[in-house]
Amino acid sequence: MLDINNLYVKIKNNLIIKGLNLKIKNNEIHIIMGPNGSGKSTLSYVISGKQKYIIEKGKILFNNKLINNLSPYEISKLGIYLSFQYPIEINGITMYSYLKTILKKKYNNRVILKKIYKVCKKLKINKNYLYRYFNVGFSGGEKKKNEILQMLLLKPKLVILDEIDSGLDIDTLNIIFKNINKYKKKYKCSIIIITHNTNIIKYINTNYVHILYNGKIIKSSNKNIIEKIEKYGYKKIVKQ
Ligand SMILES: Nc1ncnc2c1ncn2[C@@H]1O[C@H](COP(=O)(O)OP(=O)(O)OP(=O)(O)O)[C@@H](O)[C@H]1O
Ligand SMILES: [Mg+2]
Repeated sequence: MLDINNLYVKIKNNLIIKGLNLKIKNNEIHIIMGPNGSGKSTLSYVISGKQKYIIEKGKILFNNKLINNLSPYEISKLGIYLSFQYPIEINGITMYSYLKTILKKKYNNRVILKKIYKVCKKLKINKNYLYRYFNVGFSGGEKKKNEILQMLLLKPKLVILDEIDSGLDIDTLNIIFKNINKYKKKYKCSIIIITHNTNIIKYINTNYVHILYNGKIIKSSNKNIIEKIEKYGYKKIVKQ
């Protein structure tokens, strides 16, 4: 599904991604871990087509289509969804109006409202939130729930979750991962989970764990590597 080949990415003349390779098949879960500043969010942005992230070299293929030069809108339409590490606030636009806009090509207004209510129920989001401005004044956890709300409504084929689990209370963590797991099972999508949380494998069954260090994936393994990271940190892997 996703094939990233020898990728080099620059931001404001700084090379951040330096020869990164990553292959993801249909219906797979890949966890990406790594030290702060290693380039994890940069990778998620560049897959999603964020401006000012200059691809110096390499290819990003999604279902065999080159997406290097596509806009975020075009990439999103292909079925890639990014849940932000730091979701943005949009003042003056209500949640409902925003959701209606992103769904209007797929469904009519009545169906949209029904679907939104259904997903709100699943995520235990109070309907009153739909009439507040998008993310404005939302707590950290509420913003993360809102990211999953959009995911469940847009039904993407490839989901990138950038630190979806950071700052969540235990109940919200359970609600969010219950919904992610259900979605994965039903739609057989692929998921990239960027996280620092070594408890992540309690919540989701991953196929691979990759360590991103200094702009490059330096190790790919199964979930057993997480135990080692918990014990020794990244030092040992970096040395190897
Ligand atoms: N606009 C920018 N200008 C200059 N440097 C940038 C810019 N955006 C990101 N960087 C740098 O790129 C590097 C990678 O950042 P990135 O956000 O991808 O790290 P990360 O692995 O997601 O870290 P964390 O785990 O803390 O979220 C950092 O050193 C960061 O300062
Ligand atoms: Mg990050």
